[in-house]
Amino acid sequence: MPSLGFGRTVQSAIYGAGAFGHRPLVPTDSTALEAAARRTMSRNGFGYVAGSAGSEATARANVAAFDRWQVVPRMLVDTTARDTGVELFGRRHESPLLVAPVGVLSMAHDEADLALARGARQQHVTQIISTQASVPMEEIASTLRGSSHWYQLYWSSDDDLVASLVARAEACGSEALVVTLDTAYLGWRPRDLDLGHLPFARGEGIAQYTSDPVFQRRVAERVARQSAERSSPSNSAETQPRPRPTAAAIGTLLSMSRNHPGRTRDNLTAKEPRAAVETFLEVFSRPSLTWDDLPRLRELTSLPIVLKGILHPDDARRAVDAGMDGIYVSNHGGRQVDRSVAALDALPDVVAAVRDAGSSAPIIFDSGIRCGADVFTALALGATAVGIGRPHVYGLALAGSDGVAEVLRNLRAELDLQMGLTGCASLADVTVDRLRRAP
Ligand code: FNR
Repeated sequence: MPSLGFGRTVQSAIYGAGAFGHRPLVPTDSTALEAAARRTMSRNGFGYVAGSAGSEATARANVAAFDRWQVVPRMLVDTTARDTGVELFGRRHESPLLVAPVGVLSMAHDEADLALARGARQQHVTQIISTQASVPMEEIASTLRGSSHWYQLYWSSDDDLVASLVARAEACGSEALVVTLDTAYLGWRPRDLDLGHLPFARGEGIAQYTSDPVFQRRVAERVARQSAERSSPSNSAETQPRPRPTAAAIGTLLSMSRNHPGRTRDNLTAKEPRAAVETFLEVFSRPSLTWDDLPRLRELTSLPIVLKGILHPDDARRAVDAGMDGIYVSNHGGRQVDRSVAALDALPDVVAAVRDAGSSAPIIFDSGIRCGADVFTALALGATAVGIGRPHVYGLALAGSDGVAEVLRNLRAELDLQMGLTGCASLADVTVDRLRRAP
């Protein structure tokens, strides 16, 4: 008897459990998933994850862009054996899904990136570890226990720190380096602004930095400098007015102390946690970065390099010319540029530019993937694989690693059934002629 295939197996498991009164851990519908996560997350946490730049027009456009495509199923194709696998940088992936890099997962769940790692591993989905993770990359890698991972780099203004992060990513087994280019500055995010909430300023999401030897050196230098300044006669404590502590300030101090390596009790009176936040805010990004800097990164690593945030075909061509190994079409889920082109609308021109340049480099896509049909549409428009962003965070918030696994499992199952129902036995069949523009 032929196997049911992944989609039908998952479907049967859900209906089978339903017969005993068990409901899925997380809603299968993405709107219901977000609504359920909103109910469990803190206001600050949900605002940070769900929020986007400015009027949030980009985030809406990302989702709406999928509605302008329709799938045209084909009949009488034998799809009993379906293969959703894809090869990326020499490794076979069971599905074309990747876990998009998302920072500050401590806002969603106490076990943060470690719970994510367990969920991703269970579903054999490659995790892209964020530079803004809540847990050092080495711990995430060891939790993944051989399940593949890539590392996402924010290019710091400190060259030695960049070199150190890249070396650590290589050493802990990351198989590709994703360089995010769209975050020279943090976007204007009204939900966070109106709450006055920036997680990094509270010491959250800077674990890659505080666990880094170069960064630790910078922090020690800052502490020494500040102590010297304080002990100079013109800056004596008597002449400095002391700000009155507020409840919020105490909360921030607690958060910094909890998130800094070492014992919270010791950190409360130490200078390092605050100095770490200050140092992070100073070195986080390098707005002066240009194409001329890419060769330096190439010298630092033998890993495949993927440029994330590409939306213009000319930038895609330049990336290919610069010898980059992969292109990642993304507008950061609308979190950076307000009224940006929807990522899906940018995808076909980028694909054409890369392929016309004679490159077979993988093209990763994210920003707006919410269901299996979205994955199908992005692949049909030329993406090689897709990144799952907010939905995995909502799964994490609702049910930890099991919630992550279930979100990823559902997307895999839905894609598998979508392929079966449209006459696609493998991803090679998921081509643009399965789509048409909605009338
Ligand atoms: C992100 N994203 C992101 N990207 C990145 O390269 N490094 C990062 O640290 C983060 N952090 C981050 C935090 C949060 C809360 C979100 C929602 C997103 C962007 C992410 O990789 C991806 O591009 C988007 O999530 C895709 O959009 P959707 O599909 O989630 O809307």
